[in-house]
Amino acid sequence: MGTPLLELRGINKSFGPVQVLRNVDFSVHPGEVTALVGDNGAGKSTLVKCIGGIYSTDSGEYLMDGKPVHVHSPRDAAHLGVEIVYQDLALCDNLDIVQNMFLGRERRSGIILDEPSMEELAAKTLAGLSVRTVKSVRQLVSSLSGGQRQTVAIAKAVLWNSKLVILDEPTAALGVAQTAQVLELVRRLADNGLAVVLISHNMNDVFAVSDRIAALYLGQMAAQVKTTDVTHAQVVELITSGRSGSLGLVEEGAVA
Ligand SMILES: Nc1ncnc2c1ncn2[C@@H]1O[C@H](COP(=O)(O)OP(=O)(O)O)[C@@H](O)[C@H]1O
Ligand SMILES: [Mg+2]
Repeated sequence: MGTPLLELRGINKSFGPVQVLRNVDFSVHPGEVTALVGDNGAGKSTLVKCIGGIYSTDSGEYLMDGKPVHVHSPRDAAHLGVEIVYQDLALCDNLDIVQNMFLGRERRSGIILDEPSMEELAAKTLAGLSVRTVKSVRQLVSSLSGGQRQTVAIAKAVLWNSKLVILDEPTAALGVAQTAQVLELVRRLADNGLAVVLISHNMNDVFAVSDRIAALYLGQMAAQVKTTDVTHAQVVELITSGRSGSLGLVEEGAVA
């Protein structure tokens, strides 16, 4: 199996006296969906923020395509092709789809905004993701359904030659039909060759769409496995106790 696109080795991160990530290894492959699971407070969002350069790690290695890199800001991460779609979508209701997708990275033609080219690229990106439910890219985001918003947020992330797209609970607020749409889109991103990390609490979503599952338990990586090698029950055990049979963390003091 080829070199991972992203590989983290031995990542540690504390906030003051609280160690939130302990010696975390994590790898993500292109063309695959990696589900990142774990209980509330396990450290999923913190790990993702370290990958996205929002937080600096205290120690550990960060490799892209097998090469060590330094990521100290979201800009560094963006340069490496890493885009994150956060839980709280960070779309602006009072702006339309094009304005949202290009917010802060607008195209210009001389001193004026190059609206036609942005409009075209926004429409092309949505079409490339086979998104057909959005009528016009000039619709205000406030007029979109939850699923459509999530779609726009994802399209925004893939607009920038991204290689790795990370989605923090993209279906948490969605109904059944919209969840299915978003999961289909997540699958399509990977099928187009991107590396995708999906944070989710929903085992059905995880099993429906992921190739690999990484389970965090109290800030430690309990296991990273192929989805076809585990059952729902095993993953639930990894999430709730950090181990399941021969998988997972070895108890301290135990002889391996
Ligand atoms: N900025 C912060 N300062 C202090 N503690 C934090 C901060 N962010 C997260 N934590 C703590 O880190 C732990 C992991 O949080 P988080 O990464 O949000 O978990 P998850 O996303 O898996 O629910 C929690 O105990 C949380 O309280
Ligand atoms: Mg979280």
